[in-house]
Amino acid sequence: MSATPLLQRPEALAEFAADHPEFEQTRSLDELRASEYARLDRAGQVFLDYTAGGVYADAQIRDHAAFLTGGVFGNPHSTNVASLAMTQWVDRARAYVLQYFNASPDEYLVCFTQNASGALRLVGEAYPFTPDGHYLLTFDNHNSVNGIREFARAKGSRVTYAPVIPPDMRIDDDRMAAYLDEAGSGTGNLLAYPAQSNFSGVQHSLEWIERAQAKGWDVLLDAAAFVPTNRLDLGRWHPDFVPVSFYKVFGYPTGVGALIARKTALHKLHRPWFAGGTITVASVGGDRFFMAEGAEAFEDGTLDYLSLPAVEIGLRHIDRVGLDLIHTRVRCLTEWLLGALTALRHANGDQIVRIYGPTDAVDRGGTIALNLYDTNGHFIDHRIVEERANEAGISLRTGCFCNPGGGEVALGLSPEELTSCFVRAADRLALDEFRRCIDDKSTGAVRVSLGLVTTFEDVYRFAEFVAGFADRTATDA
Ligand SMILES: Cc1ncc(COP(=O)(O)O)c(C=O)c1O
Repeated sequence: MSATPLLQRPEALAEFAADHPEFEQTRSLDELRASEYARLDRAGQVFLDYTAGGVYADAQIRDHAAFLTGGVFGNPHSTNVASLAMTQWVDRARAYVLQYFNASPDEYLVCFTQNASGALRLVGEAYPFTPDGHYLLTFDNHNSVNGIREFARAKGSRVTYAPVIPPDMRIDDDRMAAYLDEAGSGTGNLLAYPAQSNFSGVQHSLEWIERAQAKGWDVLLDAAAFVPTNRLDLGRWHPDFVPVSFYKVFGYPTGVGALIARKTALHKLHRPWFAGGTITVASVGGDRFFMAEGAEAFEDGTLDYLSLPAVEIGLRHIDRVGLDLIHTRVRCLTEWLLGALTALRHANGDQIVRIYGPTDAVDRGGTIALNLYDTNGHFIDHRIVEERANEAGISLRTGCFCNPGGGEVALGLSPEELTSCFVRAADRLALDEFRRCIDDKSTGAVRVSLGLVTTFEDVYRFAEFVAGFADRTATDA
């Protein structure tokens, strides 16, 4: 028997087109890639790391440069002419973010932050955790959501992880319902989960938001990995806190994110300090201060104000392209890639790829975590895969993607194994030392993620790359 190969490109494309007739409606994105993202093809790059960071259109840079060179802008904390000009643009950007997410200005506020992690820290450090409160979070959260547990514990709150279950890496619905019945008697009950896991691509149910709120929870919906290719309609769903990073949506600028929060939820937060910009008055002699109202109370110091017009430019760009079109395209290409990867076999009939997460396109996004296995059934170290991918001009991500819980569940690392490594370390372990401590198990995975201008050619080239591992041993890989 010989290895199960990939179909030749023309046949694969014909089969893909027949299976996904709706893909044809997204052809404008091929044209957009050729005109506005031509540097990807000029560089011969297959970019499959959209969950880490998106790519920008040339026009976004031109429009932002035209804005910067077309006016005189000062720090919006002042009230001189240049500052007032800037304040108008900051207000516009805030309003456009709300409009983009269909969030009512009566219900929601936008606090600009440096990134999603900055937004998460704002919630974590100021949330009213108490000893009779509860921080409930899913296993597959990003580290910046995991880190909030340290604030919760410091205030004596209970912390519970809801496990995701392999191979699909979803949460059992009944089990979630049982967790939601365990809100503490205090007011500090916070549920945090990703709308889309940045590890497995799983999209958890948005229905949990209302169910949790009805049982006394505030809900932090981490939308950082979801919003680049999915519509989050805050007129339909009403999470209390939504952190996002804009560079994941449209590539440029980096360094700007937001906490989109319900006004009622923001009122519950008690900031542990004040800073320039967050107060109406602070006195040294009088030793008191008054917090500012609204978003300003959460924006420490000077915003990256010159970048905020680029946020509006980026969101308008996505609106013009059409988020639904992007969503359809990514769904079609993800479905094809999942099918192609799971079909690849060594000559002995064993699969080359093990996928951590759903292998169909239902309730999942375009983020795929996987490991490659050799012809003897041994995993191929993800660092080797990355090296080979780099040689092939393919940008992907390896490791645990700041999502240790997802990785630990997917790779079957037991709490005992993990704890013993932490206990054995006198001080701290470097990542490599930690890997050696876990011994011969894989401690990481490979992640490919699709986005705005991914093409069939991109996903085909990745499948072709993986097919190249057929019948190889880990040593000769
Ligand atoms: C789901 C999720 N949440 C939070 C973050 C943190 O984003 P940032 O690094 O921009 O703060 C990321 C980053 O990848 C993410 O994927």
